[in-house]
Amino acid sequence: MDKQRSAALVERRKNVVPNGISLNFDATAAHAKGALLVDMDGNEYIDFVGGIGVNNSGHCPAPVIEAIVEQSNKLIHGCFQVVTYEPYVALAEKLAIMFPHGDATKVMITGSGAESVENAIKIARQATKRRAVLCYTGAFHGRTNLTMALTSKIAYKKGCGPFAPEVYRIQYPNYYRYGDGLSPEQFADREIARLREAMLNVVNEENLAAIIIELVQGEGGFYVAPQRYVEELRKLCDEKGICLIFDEVQTGFGRTSKWGAYQHYGVVPDISTWAKSLGAGMPIGCVIGKAHVMDAAAPGTIGGTYPGNPVACAAALANLKYMEDIDINGKAAHVASIIWRRFTDLQRRCPAIGDVRGLGAMIAFELVEDKNPRKPAADLTSRLVKACYDRGLLILKAGTHANIIRVLSPLVIDDALLNRGLDIIEEEMLRLTA
Ligand SMILES: Cc1ncc(COP(=O)(O)O)c(C=O)c1O
Repeated sequence: MDKQRSAALVERRKNVVPNGISLNFDATAAHAKGALLVDMDGNEYIDFVGGIGVNNSGHCPAPVIEAIVEQSNKLIHGCFQVVTYEPYVALAEKLAIMFPHGDATKVMITGSGAESVENAIKIARQATKRRAVLCYTGAFHGRTNLTMALTSKIAYKKGCGPFAPEVYRIQYPNYYRYGDGLSPEQFADREIARLREAMLNVVNEENLAAIIIELVQGEGGFYVAPQRYVEELRKLCDEKGICLIFDEVQTGFGRTSKWGAYQHYGVVPDISTWAKSLGAGMPIGCVIGKAHVMDAAAPGTIGGTYPGNPVACAAALANLKYMEDIDINGKAAHVASIIWRRFTDLQRRCPAIGDVRGLGAMIAFELVEDKNPRKPAADLTSRLVKACYDRGLLILKAGTHANIIRVLSPLVIDDALLNRGLDIIEEEMLRLTA
């Protein structure tokens, strides 16, 4: 691959952009469509990253482009605290219908996932008049100061403290790593006991405003919370007057083959947080919640200059309609069936793959040594990512130990391209472990 122009741009980047923004690949992107990215030298990449879970509906979907152009000709910015404009209200109405949180639902539009989480906590604190927040090991909730405090992995926060206070953490119900030979039922029992015990030895329940959980951990490595655990979380929060927050930033909008991961569980949170694939790449997110909880935030305590920008709202509305029209959840189920079959088949031939797991099309495999869930094979994982990249496939690792390969490809990817990407993973995996 000739990469001269890309190399020159990356060099310019290094001169002027701080190193703290990590550089996973030396790839550039000149343009993209569907699940194919083209760099400045004309090289094509199969995209199994989707801008980290943002491009469920593919790169540059035509209806979203049209909506952006049309809205830009009318109103680019208004500031929703100053003037009310239709795209914001229409998007809130649409999201409230798609994701009812009880009898009455209200929606706040934000500009990112971290902003959604940050505001969810501000709202929960005002609704409960309490301060503490309970979160999980392996969690990723963003990079602002409060959301960094909620985020677990030290590599993301080293040297960045002091962090927001009143954040407490317990172990995520991660069956693969901490199953200890228990059956899934016994494991759920043990983790539920751990959760209830946390009210005695981790945080005072009378001061607990919220428990925030990813039903499928994203950056954490696609661990799926057990059904009974989530039901118990709901019960505990109801008993103790705690706000239950589901962070759906990475799981949302078709990724798990439903609009939200919580719809697999039949458990409704008090508040949920969203972003990523809502806007097809436009910076937009939202907080959805029970109306009485959302309204507990006093006027002036939430908002901002840009959140709910009219162009981003129009893009999100067009994107939601497009995803409905093409049945994004059906597409995810189809993509999932292919990836699942290919990964479980590869696992049978490759002992380094300790686990294949996920929900819908949010599928990952974990690389370990000696079939031991506590012996992560991080080096092998890095070599696999690099080998795939060298063959034109973009794929990311995940997990506290960086030993998990996850697929976040656009869900509109066609079978041929998907299988070409999966062929590359399979061939490189077998080559590296031969
Ligand atoms: C579950 C989850 N919450 C929050 C965030 C933060 O979102 P953003 O990067 O848009 O601030 C992420 C980002 O990866 C995420 O996966």
